[in-house]
This record gives sequence, structure tokens and C-alpha cells, in this order.
Amino acid sequence: MTDTDKDRAAPQAQKDRVMIFDTTLRDGEQSPGATMTHEEKLEIAGLLDDMGVDIIEAGFPIASEGDFRAVSEIAKRSRDAVICGLARANLKDIDRCWEAVKHAARPRIHTFIGTSPLHRAIPNLSKDEMAERIHETVTHARNLCDNVQWSPMDATRTEWDYLARVVEIAIKAGAATVNIPDTVGYTAPVESADLIRRLIAEVPGADEIVFATHCHNDLGMATANALAAVEGGARQIECTINGLGERAGNTALEEVVMAMKVRGDILPYQTRVDSTKLMHISRRVATVSGFNVQYNKAIVGKNAFAHESGIHQDGMLKNAETFEIMRPEDVGLTETNIVLGKHSGRAALRSKLKNLGIELADNQLGDVFVRFKELADRKKEVYDEDLIALVQAGEDDTRDRLVVKSLRVVCGTGKPAEADLTMTIDGVEKTAQMTGDGPVDATFKAVRALHPNQARLQLYQVHAVTEGTDAQATVSVRLEEEGNIATGQSADTDTVLASAKAYVNALNRLLIRRDRTGQDQKEISYKDVG
Ligand code: KIV
Ligand code: ZN
Repeated sequence: MTDTDKDRAAPQAQKDRVMIFDTTLRDGEQSPGATMTHEEKLEIAGLLDDMGVDIIEAGFPIASEGDFRAVSEIAKRSRDAVICGLARANLKDIDRCWEAVKHAARPRIHTFIGTSPLHRAIPNLSKDEMAERIHETVTHARNLCDNVQWSPMDATRTEWDYLARVVEIAIKAGAATVNIPDTVGYTAPVESADLIRRLIAEVPGADEIVFATHCHNDLGMATANALAAVEGGARQIECTINGLGERAGNTALEEVVMAMKVRGDILPYQTRVDSTKLMHISRRVATVSGFNVQYNKAIVGKNAFAHESGIHQDGMLKNAETFEIMRPEDVGLTETNIVLGKHSGRAALRSKLKNLGIELADNQLGDVFVRFKELADRKKEVYDEDLIALVQAGEDDTRDRLVVKSLRVVCGTGKPAEADLTMTIDGVEKTAQMTGDGPVDATFKAVRALHPNQARLQLYQVHAVTEGTDAQATVSVRLEEEGNIATGQSADTDTVLASAKAYVNALNRLLIRRDRTGQDQKEISYKDVG
């Protein structure tokens, strides 16, 4: 049985099985500022595959050389997951997509066109011309690949008759999956369920294929809409880790997976996702995208399992079920109490990191251990989050052209702050002193004095990793230079030093990009569907 046959058979053979289609690397990465490096994309794809995601949308191959390379490499390294690439409704896009995904054991082409009146007006196609285009492009994709997904973009604002007509055309042309996107996050749960139910009931051939749901979160209903679509008969949910995505984001993978797991009584559907891997992947996506997870975010937020009030703590101690509907371990959250201190040894560190889903080679562990000891000397209590920040902060060090060596800052009331910064630039040590409007401003000016650049600061964010005045601060800095965007992060108990390192980390990433082909910018737009 081919993959297409399996997908076509899914509604009958596996009524309760919902496939998870992750689009963190495509729709998620598309959100302004969430750009990931090539290596980061490969790492996230590997984690998604390990976690049991069924389909990974790895990118939009024609959008840039970088996207093409990433999708091809992810396809080559894929294990169980289907690897999918996105293509607009034209032959060139579809060919390019196939060139990238064909390396996968289980490739899929996902082609789309905007079908609502507003979207039809952009390529200026009549309804009949667009219908013809859909037939031609899905047929072309199907001639290349036996697993084709088709999406009518802005489906929830497309006239019913026209939507039903084009869905039928796509099915007849060979699409095994038809995705119904709520592109602008406009629909509501009842409508979301009804739309899928009606398509299955009224479109000829609809019971032979899989319907997917793809919801955006503009009105905060993406998770509810996706689950409602499943109740209506959809058997594929398109989602992203942490709900990353354009504008208010997409349906959050962790939310739909845990909703179906915890409320199996009213949502009797199964996925293949190993939920104990959710926390780790959430943290990695937050780090590499530079989009921190809000504290009170469902499932993966820092406070999602924290019980502050006396009444809650008392109840929790007597019986955890009083205030907990799922166990922290179910989502991969290990004990966050004090675990390691300055007397802890290398074996304790290795075992703790392993619990957190981080396995390091001996030399890497040695390096992290040295930095852990330095941290433990400065900080009484070393929490899980501290360790994760420590590991992540050291990851890029080896290939960095710019390295912060030392920083001394003097601040006083009524006087400008002074920063005295030493860095190595391609191995050569240089020092600069600058004044500024506060310690961070002075420090960033010193970095620019040592490494003049035109990069524009788009985001500067400080995040306390743990509690207390000795907590580590994780600083995120997003820079933009000639259309390239890079996010740098660093963590330290000294916020100004963490800021300097995060800024320099972002500059290093811009340098890596500049050193490459210079073609990594997205060259086309989603609206350009003609
Ligand atoms: O939101 C949307 O409509 C999309 C399509 C490209 C599927 O992301
Ligand atoms: Zn989308």
C-alpha cells in the first residue's frame, strides 16, 4: 500500500487517529523575526520526527536558496515523518518543491491557491480560470509525487459553492489530503466543525481523502477551531510548536495533543506524539526563534504547573489531582526544585541534563561542567532552566568570529553610563570605551565601535530565567541588516553582560548569513500566486 493509499484509507480504517502536521519550520518560521539558521531547522525537524509528528512541513523551497537547502536536507535525514514542502499554484514552484522533498522516504507536495473573493482578485483569475489552474497544478504535482496535499487559502471566507467545486476538482486531480485553512483566524468552533462535516457529506469523493484543518489564532480560537474541525471529521491538524506563526500564530501543537490526551472521554482521538518530549522541543523552538513562551501559556508556559497560592499548595500536597488535570511528567517537565549546587559533580550534571532531554558528548559535557561550576559559584541555587540556558548559551561559541572577552560598566545617577569592552574579532583582541544612555546603550555602542555595522535593533528582551536577584537573565536581541534578520541570545547572572553577548551572538549570525550565498532572503511572497 502506498502512502497515498494509506492516507486515502485513513478515514475508514483509522477513524480515531488524528495525524499531526507540524508547520513550525514553514508557517512558524514565516512570522517576522522568527528566522532560524540551517542547523537550527535540521535540529527542530529531528526533534519533531523523534516526537512522533506524522508530517513535517519543512519549508517553502522556491522562497529562497536557504529554504530549498533546508527542505532537501531535512528530507534526506527524515526517519518516520512524511516531509512536505509548500508550493504556490504554478508549475515552477511545484517542480522546485519536488526537487527538495524527493529525497525523503515519504515525500509530500503541498500546493495552495487563495480561493476567497479577496484572494482571487490578486492574480486576477475568474472562477473558471482558477478552477482550471487548480486542476492543472494538482495533476502536475500528482505526476511527480504520489502524496499531494492541496489547500484553498482563506477557505473559511470562500463562498460555499465555489469551495465545494474546487475541493472536488482537487480530489479528482489526485489530492490525497485537502486542507481547509482559516488563514485569517476568522472562524469559530461551530462553524469550523460544520464546514468540514458539510464538505465530507456533499463533495463527491470527499470520503476517500483526509481533510486537514489549519487555523490561525487572530481571535484566540485556533485550538478550539482545530479540535472542532476534528469533531466534524478532519483527521489532520496543522499546528506549530508554541503556536508560532504569522500574526497571532497557528494552533499550538502541544495544546491539541494534550487536549486529546487529557479529554479522551469527549475527544476520543489518538495521535502518535510522545507528549513527554513537548517541553524540550518547546524550549528549543523558543530559543532558536527568539520568541519566548509567555509564562501562563497552556501546557508549556513556566507557570503552567506552578502553584503559588496557599490554598492551591495545600491541596496539591494532599492530592495533586485537586488542582492538576495532567502531571508535569506527561509533558516532560521534571522536578524544578533545587537540584544541583556547587558541590555537584560531573555525573550528577550528566544525569540531570539527560532528564532534561539533553545528551552531550564527553567534550561538550566538560565544557558545560566548567561553566556550570562558574555559575554555581555565583548563584546559590541552580535550576533546570539555568542549566538549559547554560547549554544553549555555549552552543555557537566555537565558530563565532566576534567574542566578548570582558566588560566593565560604571553607572551613576545623573551621569552617562560608561562601558569598557574587550572583544576578539577574528582572533584579534580589541578594546573600546563608550558612554551611553544607560549601561546597555553604552555597551552596544562599544560593540559598534569595535565592529562597525548597519544592523538595526528590532527587539531587545530580558527574561529572568529563575527567581531571585541572583537569577540568570536570558537576553534576546533581534537585528536586521539589508533584509536579513538574526536573533541572538545569551544568559548570565549579569544582565548587561548577557546583553552584550546576545547582541554579539546576533551579529555573528548575520556574519554567517552574509558569508553564505547572500541569497537567503525570502524572494517571493505568498500573495504572489499567479
Ligand atoms: O494560512 C494559510 O492559509 C496557509 C496556507 C499556505 C496553507 O498557511
Ligand atoms: Zn497559515
